Amino acid sequence: MVAPPRRVRISTVSSARDPLFRRAFSLYAAIFPASERIGREYFKNLFEEKRLGLLAPFNFHFLVAHEGERVLGFISGTYLAIANLGFVGYLAVRPSVTGRHVGSRLRQRLVQLVRRDALAAGHPRLLGMMGEVEEGNPWLQTMRRRGALALDLDYLQPSTDGTAVVPLVLYLQPTSDRRVRFLSAPALRRVLYAVYRRLYRIRFPLKQPEFRRMLRQLEGRARVGARRLMSPAPLPAKARAARPKQVPKGVPRVD
Ligand SMILES: CC(C)(COP(=O)(O)OP(=O)(O)OC[C@H]1O[C@@H](n2cnc3c(N)ncnc32)[C@H](O)[C@@H]1OP(=O)(O)O)[C@@H](O)C(=O)NCCC(=O)NCCS
Repeated sequence: MVAPPRRVRISTVSSARDPLFRRAFSLYAAIFPASERIGREYFKNLFEEKRLGLLAPFNFHFLVAHEGERVLGFISGTYLAIANLGFVGYLAVRPSVTGRHVGSRLRQRLVQLVRRDALAAGHPRLLGMMGEVEEGNPWLQTMRRRGALALDLDYLQPSTDGTAVVPLVLYLQPTSDRRVRFLSAPALRRVLYAVYRRLYRIRFPLKQPEFRRMLRQLEGRARVGARRLMSPAPLPAKARAARPKQVPKGVPRVD
């Protein structure tokens, strides 16, 4: 196993003026395609809303892994109070240090913070962590073996620049020893609404055809459990180009 880089620190960023944020933002712009990126203004607003206590009982976190001033990676995430779940927004690690547990450490730290949010919101424990992932991503299979639920819903990630809506899988990773086997349809509806409204800042989710399509899938269902997954297979080059979550292949050099 490759040893993690030495002296890696994980710091919480709470201002867009923080130099760590500025460097993490350059990494973000280099790694994620335009259809998945949200402008600097988005983060600036979230930091300000958090500072003023306007997000409670929801919360937002932005963590940066760095060696001194050199940013190695970052993660952003939200506590979705409406369902007592954490939601991973963006996670990226500098290509030259991938595979050395930086991503995993960022994720673990995010979970710690979101657990605290759950306690502060009056819950005895956090229900789990959610996020969006490509159906064929091998990490999703690993997560399922560890007890995560890939939800049986054709999830559509809204495009952040109005170009491509991205079909992905929503996963739910339990954060306690209680395995989660389903979400109730009303809870999932609220999660989807919170993701569109609070994370992607879409003013009227119900006006988005992709959002309505997801709600239609919930009609008549009491709960949503696990979906059957395709086995992870390498996508043909054309499909890869059309699916922005498969970023590592086309990641521009940022080192
Ligand atoms: C995915 C990525 C963050 C992995 O970084 P890394 O430092 O090599 O990660 P590690 O060495 O810690 O190994 C895997 C860890 O990455 C994280 N990870 C991998 N794929 C992931 C995914 N699709 N979504 C969320 N987390 C993921 C997990 O935390 C995993 O550790 P865990 O299973 O113990 O929780 C990195 O390759 C990267 O920046 N890729 C491009 C951007 C990207 O695809 N981000 C994920 C979706 S937003």
